[in-house]
Amino acid sequence: MMSQFYFVLTNPEAEPLLKTEMSIGYPNFKLSYSRPGFLTFKTENAIDFSPWMSRLSGICLGKKPLEELKSLPKAWLWKRVDSLSAPQELIDLSEKSLFKIGEKVTLIMMLGPEEYWVGEYILKKTHFQTPGEVSSIEKNEDAPSRAYYKIAEAFEAFDLPMDSQEKVLELGSAPGGASLFLLDQDLIVYGVDPALMDKEILKNYNFKHIKKAFETLNENNFREDIDWIVSDVNLPPSVVLQEVDRFLTFLEPRGVILTLKLHQDRYLRMLKPVVESFKKKGFTTVELKYLPSYRQEICLVALR
Ligand SMILES: C[S@@+](CC[C@H](N)C(=O)[O-])C[C@H]1O[C@@H](n2cnc3c(N)ncnc32)[C@H](O)[C@@H]1O
Repeated sequence: MMSQFYFVLTNPEAEPLLKTEMSIGYPNFKLSYSRPGFLTFKTENAIDFSPWMSRLSGICLGKKPLEELKSLPKAWLWKRVDSLSAPQELIDLSEKSLFKIGEKVTLIMMLGPEEYWVGEYILKKTHFQTPGEVSSIEKNEDAPSRAYYKIAEAFEAFDLPMDSQEKVLELGSAPGGASLFLLDQDLIVYGVDPALMDKEILKNYNFKHIKKAFETLNENNFREDIDWIVSDVNLPPSVVLQEVDRFLTFLEPRGVILTLKLHQDRYLRMLKPVVESFKKKGFTTVELKYLPSYRQEICLVALR
């Protein structure tokens, strides 16, 4: 049987988790050539390959000479580090190449000066429409934390159907990066966090700070319906999920968006059962995605 090669692009912080995930979920895949943020794997049994801890993954066609790349009809170009200077022909090719959802993307991955690898993947709706799945969210100088980008990326990737003036229960809201993004979408945010919120967020009439640990809240704290639960609490996923489960006994949100911290390998094993348990609770779309601004985290989105 012919060997098949696959590539993964991920953030360097997630590489140890990716390797653990590969050993659990893809035991027949052997690590082959790799550089920080770029890994290839070899296998004899080709299967559907989409590890969670990757920004992007697909079939790897190997290292190619520049001359061969210049004749490609369409291709996107991704550089492993911004400081690499790519040939103008490849920059032009990438800028004029458009890919539709469902189409096979050819991706040129520039790993070093004169070092080009080529991969292919099918463009999904939840992909960022950027070469190498880098974030397309613009820098916001007012954002009090990195969490602004995390929720903005989840919003974009999942096309979250949040409507104006809907109510969001945000668990772990301080200092307020995610709150800022949600308030900018004209949502009403109840931010639960014992820590201090950014002063500008507190001034917003659509924000209410519940300065408590989320474990202390119960149904008596909620006079109004909650449309969304968002969480980025820095506690183990087992604790966060148990608390979210408890909230779901008295709240009926349209959707739940959780950033789960995967600081230990064993948390990876929880993810599949967690997806199944959200489906059993009546959420029809339940997906996991590693977002471009993530470190050792994963986003779980569950929509009714
Ligand atoms: C990664 S930060 C959240 C960032 C925040 N979402 C933002 O947008 O700026 C994690 C937060 O979880 C909060 N946290 C930790 N344990 C908590 C608990 N039991 N209840 C509520 N918040 C908690 C911490 O105080 C911290 O502010």
